[in-house]
Amino acid sequence: MSLDALFQSLQLGGLTLPNRVIMAPLTRARARATPANVPTPLMAQYYSQRADCGLIVSEAIAIHPKGMGWYRVSGLWNEEQVTGWSVVTKSVHDAGGRIYAQLWHMGRLVLPDYLGGELPIGPSPIAGVGETMAPPPADYDGGFLPMKPYVVPREMAQADIDEVIAAFGQGAAHALEAGFDGVEIHGANGYIIDQFLQSNSNTRTDGYGGSVENRVRLLREVVSAVTARIAPNRVGLRISPTSERKGMGDANPAALAEAIASLAQEFGLGYIHLIEPIASGFMEKPDKPVIDRVRALFRGVLIQNGSFDGPTADACIAAGEADAVSFGRPYIANPDLVTRMREGLPLAAPNFDFAYVGEARGYTDYPPLSDGL
Ligand SMILES: Cc1cc2nc3c(=O)[nH]c(=O)nc-3n(C[C@H](O)[C@H](O)[C@H](O)COP(=O)(O)O)c2cc1C
Repeated sequence: MSLDALFQSLQLGGLTLPNRVIMAPLTRARARATPANVPTPLMAQYYSQRADCGLIVSEAIAIHPKGMGWYRVSGLWNEEQVTGWSVVTKSVHDAGGRIYAQLWHMGRLVLPDYLGGELPIGPSPIAGVGETMAPPPADYDGGFLPMKPYVVPREMAQADIDEVIAAFGQGAAHALEAGFDGVEIHGANGYIIDQFLQSNSNTRTDGYGGSVENRVRLLREVVSAVTARIAPNRVGLRISPTSERKGMGDANPAALAEAIASLAQEFGLGYIHLIEPIASGFMEKPDKPVIDRVRALFRGVLIQNGSFDGPTADACIAAGEADAVSFGRPYIANPDLVTRMREGLPLAAPNFDFAYVGEARGYTDYPPLSDGL
């Protein structure tokens, strides 16, 4: 099968990506429980198995304990975590790959269980919609974690906002120290930056709420802090302005997307990673996609995400809608996704029982097709 557009090389932030297949960020929760949130050699194996894609975007990495609300996700706020990540980045580089760190703060979506009983922080006292995984019970056997509903967060004071901005800057510096090739700011999926961006979750009356310009202010200050530590062309931004999951929603997603794209252009960011449309699973296909608005205002690399396969990704790039396409769920069970798509070979189906819990099973034990040939 000829997928010429998908397998062309691409320049990004001074790197030459050998193809336009991007591994989307996937939280897999395989970091250590103690010492907390420290990456493991198993994670190095998992990522290096997938190193032949154009670029790996790491799983979401918590940049501050107050922004961490998920058992065994990885962190990047202390030296042990930096050391753990440097083993991962070295093994990806040794395998010929490139890897960016996704910098993450969950804001209102952190359960008090992870905060010693304190409330999480958010732009406004409005709870996310839905439930999430609580820490394990004392007799935990490694299976599914208990679920609890999101809570009403404490409205952030200026000091909280300043702390979050500083944490993103520090996270970028730690990412460089750990050997990452760049960073992706997680501004999508209902986490803290998205909570400020979208009007459903932000009803502030100060300079961070109300107008689109105000709601974009936290993002502007985060981008400013991150680009003070790492060259702007090595910084990407992930967004999902049309997503309504977890209680998100915006009065005018097109205007919001334009403001974000203009900001990314102003700072000269390397890429925007847009999640839309997704036919199933993560968000419904929006009535009015914003990809064209982003494309018109942002001249860096545009990565599109959501329910693509090889042929649809190739068509998207060939039509000039995006420069590259990222794949999330297909990467769980297909470490050799690049080869399978290039050769038109069948894809393996993931076992979602092990998506967010476990060790090697359902993580590093999916074989490449060549093992069976
Ligand atoms: C197990 C799992 C974990 C995910 N973790 C993250 C994450 O850490 N950060 C993020 O931005 N998106 C995350 N996502 C969303 C994916 O990056 C992607 O947007 C989504 O799977 C849709 O793309 P796909 O249709 O190619 O799977 C996750 C998705 C799955 C299935």
